[in-house]
Amino acid sequence: MDTAEHHKLDGQDILVVGGAGYIGSHVCKMIHAAGGRPITIDNLSCGHEHAVKWGPLERIDIRDREALDAALSRWPGASCVVHLASSIEVGIGERDPANFYSNNVVGALTLLDAMRAAEIDRLIFSSTCATYGETETMPIAEDDPQQPSSVYGKTKLAVEHMIQSYHAAYGLNYVTLRYFNASGADADAEIGEEHDPETHLIPIAMQAAAGRRGPLKLFGTDYDTPDGTCVRDYIHVNDIARAHILAMKQMESGLTRAEVNIGTGVGTSNREVLASIGRVTGHPVPYEDAPRRAGDLSRLYSDEGQAKKVLGFTPRYSDMDTIIRSAWNFHNSRWGETRAD
Ligand code: UFG
Repeated sequence: MDTAEHHKLDGQDILVVGGAGYIGSHVCKMIHAAGGRPITIDNLSCGHEHAVKWGPLERIDIRDREALDAALSRWPGASCVVHLASSIEVGIGERDPANFYSNNVVGALTLLDAMRAAEIDRLIFSSTCATYGETETMPIAEDDPQQPSSVYGKTKLAVEHMIQSYHAAYGLNYVTLRYFNASGADADAEIGEEHDPETHLIPIAMQAAAGRRGPLKLFGTDYDTPDGTCVRDYIHVNDIARAHILAMKQMESGLTRAEVNIGTGVGTSNREVLASIGRVTGHPVPYEDAPRRAGDLSRLYSDEGQAKKVLGFTPRYSDMDTIIRSAWNFHNSRWGETRAD
């Protein structure tokens, strides 16, 4: 992995909260490739034990302060915490906000206080483009208004504010990464997107293309976009992982705080995603037009200037066909089929 050549972490211990999840496991693999040791802290409520391959697992819930303190004390030299653990399914958040606020906000607060007690003063926080909410201005820049419409976005924004206050009052150094649409999988097909239930476009479309479920429901074909379907900014999960390594290196060099979008700046419509899947895999996606999904915004894509300026980040793996090829190979490795080369 090329990151290892350029961004060595020199035997550092990095605590990865949510390291058993989709993005977290890719972050762990890249920390390991860069010479560091990822220590995963995860309650395995959504993550998978089989995805923890590059360092030890502390199986705890971060809301359990006693267990968290004990876990942190077992890794006294840890240089940084990466916090990715949260509830993410937007629809579930609307139906069960109590659980979202507890997991995302109370969990983060407990983690921040445990970090203070353990005197760990560097944090990389996984936030989301969902903190911006409805906006007509594209691309979205970091200083655009944050008015999230979903409970999910509200919980992430609350944690962003909490982190800013801890920076001002207690000297916490942080980089908040606002991811756009995480997608794709590790090139070795060892780890990938395994949500249950799955709600995301690419894995569902692939299951439909492979005949493992019925036709995809294409939610909304009457949006004010070039082909009538929603437009998103798909960023390869390994590009997201690289952004974490770059953020760690920048903090080592003195960066004390930053909020950064992690996207490509390129908008891709749902129809374009389906076309790419058909072209790359040779299996057209069966689909049927369906009504709009509640809460979907028509267009979301990133202004990527700040990521370049602050982190020196530009995407490497995020062209749509690379995303699709890697995701297809991962799913097929799970299903026991052939590769798309
Ligand atoms: N879509 C379909 N059919 C499906 C699934 C999705 O047409 O079966 C469409 C959606 O309506 C949307 C697009 O595909 O237009 C992308 O949907 P995803 O669910 O894959 O992704 P989202 O953009 O809704 O969600 C992503 C992240 C969330 C984050 C959100 C912010 O996965 O964590 O962006 O808007 F909150």
